[in-house]
Amino acid sequence: MTRTAQPPTKGSVLTVSKTFVRFVKRTLATGAVALAALSLQPTTASASPTPVVGGTRAAQGEFPWMVRLSMGCGGALYTQQIVLTAAHCVSGSGNNTSITATAGVVDLNSSSAIKVRSTKVLQAPGYNGSGKDWALIKLAKPINLPTLKIADTTQYNNGTFTVAGWGAAREGGPQQRYLLKADVPFVSDADCQAAYGNDLIPGEEICAGILGQGGVDTCQGDSGGPMFRRDAAGAWIQVGIVSWGIGCARPDYPGVYTEVSTFASQIRSAASTL
Ligand code: ARG
Repeated sequence: MTRTAQPPTKGSVLTVSKTFVRFVKRTLATGAVALAALSLQPTTASASPTPVVGGTRAAQGEFPWMVRLSMGCGGALYTQQIVLTAAHCVSGSGNNTSITATAGVVDLNSSSAIKVRSTKVLQAPGYNGSGKDWALIKLAKPINLPTLKIADTTQYNNGTFTVAGWGAAREGGPQQRYLLKADVPFVSDADCQAAYGNDLIPGEEICAGILGQGGVDTCQGDSGGPMFRRDAAGAWIQVGIVSWGIGCARPDYPGVYTEVSTFASQIRSAASTL
């Protein structure tokens, strides 16, 4: 079985993934919360809970390219009119006016929130539920905010990253009104494979978390949002896209992120077609 694409709005179908199957075999006793928590399914604002665990409030304007998407995912402004998010947050490619992007605020309920509808979605070509977890959403009009550049070399795939989102602040917890942020250290492919085995696709995924300790992580509803760090010039650069994990902030299960550098050239050329 493979992870499947998710409907953009309702129709709550639990994603069946290879991880899911192995995990069920491995730890039958872990329970429904954990099973739901490892799904790639985005969490709508009204759905049951599991943003950032171990985080603190982001300041207004601190991450100006952060976007909240109406299906319950995060994203980042790749250009002023294109949001980079996760493939598992969208249902396919084509014209799509059903998604609303909310930007320019840390408080989703703020009256100064900028809300713009989607016009098109481009899901990563060949996405089948494992790896390749990226997608682009074209907006009906540009948003006049700074964009986040993406890493196109592996040189930033190390160090300490920042993550941010409006997802759950604890496993099983509710979605958040205010944007949370946290710092998470890089976890090597070897260490991440030790946790996830063959479910990890090392060439396409990059892991982060505090191994052996946990407590800080992204979580349900953060999917599609950026993992980023400072580049050599001190500018923010996106190295990951929130993708999946077993539970949230567990000591032995780091967060798994789409490795942006792997897909940078595809993302760039896909964006040019939108
Ligand atoms: N798949 C989740 C979502 O749709 C993201 C889970 C991230 N999990 C983690 N432990 N880092 O929001």
